[in-house]
Amino acid sequence: MNPNTRYTIRVALIVALGGFLMGFDASVISGVVGFIGPEFDLTNIQVGWAVASLTLTATLAMLMAGPVSDRYGRKPVLKAAALLFSLSAIASAVAPDYLTLVAARMLGGFGVGAALIIAPMYIAEIAPADVRGRLVSFNQLNIVIGISVAYFSNFLILSLGQSDLAWAQALNLGDWSWRWMLGIEAVPAILYFFALFSVPESPRWLVMHGKPDRALGIMERVSGKAQAKENMTAVQESLDADAHKEEGSFKELFMPAMRLVLTIGIVIAILQQITGINSVFFYAPMIFEQSGIGTDAAFMQAVLVGIVNLVATIVAIMLIDKLGRRPLLITGLVIIVTSMILLAYAFGSATIGADGELTNMNPTLILIGILSFVAGFGISLGPVMWVLFSELFPNRIRGIAISFCGLINSSVSFIVQLVFPWELENLGPSMTFLIYGSFAIIGLIFVIRVLPETKGRSLEQLQVELASKQ
Ligand code: BGC
Repeated sequence: MNPNTRYTIRVALIVALGGFLMGFDASVISGVVGFIGPEFDLTNIQVGWAVASLTLTATLAMLMAGPVSDRYGRKPVLKAAALLFSLSAIASAVAPDYLTLVAARMLGGFGVGAALIIAPMYIAEIAPADVRGRLVSFNQLNIVIGISVAYFSNFLILSLGQSDLAWAQALNLGDWSWRWMLGIEAVPAILYFFALFSVPESPRWLVMHGKPDRALGIMERVSGKAQAKENMTAVQESLDADAHKEEGSFKELFMPAMRLVLTIGIVIAILQQITGINSVFFYAPMIFEQSGIGTDAAFMQAVLVGIVNLVATIVAIMLIDKLGRRPLLITGLVIIVTSMILLAYAFGSATIGADGELTNMNPTLILIGILSFVAGFGISLGPVMWVLFSELFPNRIRGIAISFCGLINSSVSFIVQLVFPWELENLGPSMTFLIYGSFAIIGLIFVIRVLPETKGRSLEQLQVELASKQ
């Protein structure tokens, strides 16, 4: 591996730690809810708030992070996110009451929203075109690892707290288990903050802000002298072409030239969530329990979901710049549709017992259906969405555009999670999965007919090609 590639990979890995913290922060609360309810004597709604309040500020941060980073740079926003993660972890760990805990979680939510959007955008802006997909996908890989590590760390703290190890008792892991679960995140968050000092500002942002010399130096480290010069000229030309326009504005996002890329961004943002990934992620044990296996086995199978997602994401990273974005999306969506039909059949073939409960289900078939769905997502919509977001939009309005698509993505995610328990009860699992499958078919048709291939081209080439397609 040449030194340039090694340097770029190191930078991408550091920045993608933002994805890890985001995944960790969002899911660590699942281990905490069981404790804070009794400790602070909370109502159900208050517990719900302790969980959902983070999504609220994350959504707000998504709206703000893009434009703020267009103005002040990508790096300061990432550093701010790292600080917010650290402060939030410490403040929630020592929270004396419920309100402080919610406020601390909301602080972390700002970090989640900012990291979610800025980390992949930064990586796309620094990466050489031929490995861009792979490097941006590091971020999704880290999100997935963050989610799994949080589950594991919760489990570990809980077990150590129940052990009679002297050091675990000295740290009071038993009585303070939920505080440790939340507080431990300060360690990677503080590391992230300091590691960011070794990362340069995004060269494309520097050019946009009249600092071409610094940008050139960074591009040379990333892709070598000759390529850097070529890239610089292209970035400069793309900006000159837009020079008569005012600073990238929200209005500009809705100009005719943006129609195709914005449509793709919005459709993929909706599709990633409306096919049900977070229903499976957040309610996995519940789904498996409905299939008739015991609670412990259901918990184990939920762990399997995390592992399959991880492996599939790694496969996507290996293939995304070789095969391209389209083949991965198409294959993944076909797998998702097939899995949903399988799940609808597996739940549908159950009989309703005298007590109204579903019985005679085939748990193996259901496990296969869920795992193949997660694998389909992991090689396609999971990573590919972030890659597309970061390469579809022109330099000038990339920040605003990604904020907007990210906002749609998380709003749909919120709604899908909210109605899932209702759907299970009122429509039944078969119908619920058929609905997800139908959305996947619509998405498949859209991808086949509308989505252009974006692999291997520079961001500036894409800018010209995509604007002319409309
Ligand atoms: C999505 C999340 C999802 C995660 C699962 C991300 O790309 O945006 O909503 O939970 O993938 O892997």
